[in-house]
Amino acid sequence: MNIIPKPLKVLPAQGKLDLSNVSKVNIDERLNECQTLISEVFKTRAADGVTIDIKYDSSLKEEGYRLKIATDGIEISASTARGAIWAIQSLRVAGKLDVSGADHKVKCCVIEDEPNYGWRGVLIDEARHFYGIDFIKKIIDLMGMHKLNVLHWHLTDDQGWRIEIKKYPLLTEIGSKRSQSNINGWRGIDGDGIPHSGYYTQEQIKEVVAYALERGISILPEIDMPAHFAAAFAAYPWLACRDIKCEVPWYFGGKVPLSQGIKDWNRTACIGNPETMQFVYDVIDEVCELFPYPFYHIGGDEVPTEEWKKCPKCNELMKREGLKGVNEMHAWFNNKIQSYLKGKGKRLIGWNEVLMGSNLDRTVIAQYWVPITDKNVVKHIKLGGDVIISKHRNFYFDFAYAVYPLRNTYEFTPYISGIKPKHREHVLGVEGAVWTEWIPDAYKLEFLLFPRMGALAEAGWSSGKKDYKEFVSRVRDFEPILDAFDVNYAEEEICIVKSGLMRKARIQKNFFYGDQDIELKENAAIKERKGKRRKDR
Ligand code: ACM
Ligand code: ZN
Repeated sequence: MNIIPKPLKVLPAQGKLDLSNVSKVNIDERLNECQTLISEVFKTRAADGVTIDIKYDSSLKEEGYRLKIATDGIEISASTARGAIWAIQSLRVAGKLDVSGADHKVKCCVIEDEPNYGWRGVLIDEARHFYGIDFIKKIIDLMGMHKLNVLHWHLTDDQGWRIEIKKYPLLTEIGSKRSQSNINGWRGIDGDGIPHSGYYTQEQIKEVVAYALERGISILPEIDMPAHFAAAFAAYPWLACRDIKCEVPWYFGGKVPLSQGIKDWNRTACIGNPETMQFVYDVIDEVCELFPYPFYHIGGDEVPTEEWKKCPKCNELMKREGLKGVNEMHAWFNNKIQSYLKGKGKRLIGWNEVLMGSNLDRTVIAQYWVPITDKNVVKHIKLGGDVIISKHRNFYFDFAYAVYPLRNTYEFTPYISGIKPKHREHVLGVEGAVWTEWIPDAYKLEFLLFPRMGALAEAGWSSGKKDYKEFVSRVRDFEPILDAFDVNYAEEEICIVKSGLMRKARIQKNFFYGDQDIELKENAAIKERKGKRRKDR
């Protein structure tokens, strides 16, 4: 079977069933939330065909399901609508129901399935580049087919504020627009001269949240602070330790400001200022109204804490609260937000830099991303804290395939960098991140995300023995589905075929020091040769 992620158990039976021959669907009312997906997947019904019975079974785990495909009909059992949704997605993928002209017959069998990890996420950074509602819905559709259940929506950063906050209208009026975008990768010091802007209204956010929920996906908002906050400073300069006027930065990273003598580019919110703290609470109030998910991502990465050392208000805070240094200050900030979120029934998530202060409330969740080992993560787990794993070499999808091959994601094991099997209960799951500094459009984003999304899904869901070759055969078999959704996925010559050392060195050199798009261009040439054309190109 071509299903990605690979199901826990498939017990084969005699015969085949044509999934285009479904006439009726009966749904237990406790699982009614799978209704939208049923209508979408089984758009057309046979006049005189088989029935799908969707039944409630309390013995099945939260996202688990049993799927019986027999010649006389289909039976789905689940204890939650999400379990039923995953079963429908298995039918959809196995029968290639989105691929017109494909053979929709599937072999009869019983599938018993459940995920290995409860957290299986994808981060899309729309702060660095804004893609818009149609694209984000497309990502949600594709995540659903891979049984990924969290869309981590990175909505604010230095280079753009992309969510409407009614109390602070300048966040989007000013903060969502920048004069141009940095080009040519991390060493590049030029801009493209093209203004970039865009944001989601609160109504649009609600629409996306509802769309995702109907497909079994929760949305985790990330409002990055106290650093990565320059778009907010452009709108309201008083939020920072030094109230100085600035524009929304157009450059990604420090190369441009360092080479051009631009001062004051790496700043942080003034957490010693009660008005800044009130702003933070006000933003949280509005954001939490839009996202029902009981988690909230505060970012918290790469904080230039030197700012706090020089700030009178921050020094006063340190003295008043008896905080020993900037790490404890950062933990104080996180604890304040965590306690505010607790009042709303939510938990705080932050990148692993939030773990540096020993006074931290250990109910916060750390997202482990740094490429090197972080002893603070190990300590956090030992103290009972939970983590989500997004390690660079496995899950940073903004890197070239020659740098982080598909296999890195597929063969991921969480027991790395100090995390041991005995810590299993503290590993909530995995998340793949698409940071978009150098991804101006959906065309490039899709190239980097597919088929990595399949490997990510497998790392989060499947618990059996790994077999990369067998996985690759399912990746190939999945391609017609990606074609049906007009996805610009990486061809096997780029992401699967083992790179020779020469090629690897050439791509890496370009990727880091010159042409960020070298693999993307090679992929386009391969597609051209194969006669594959994307509709919008
Ligand atoms: C990060 O990559 N700064 C979380
Ligand atoms: Zn300050």
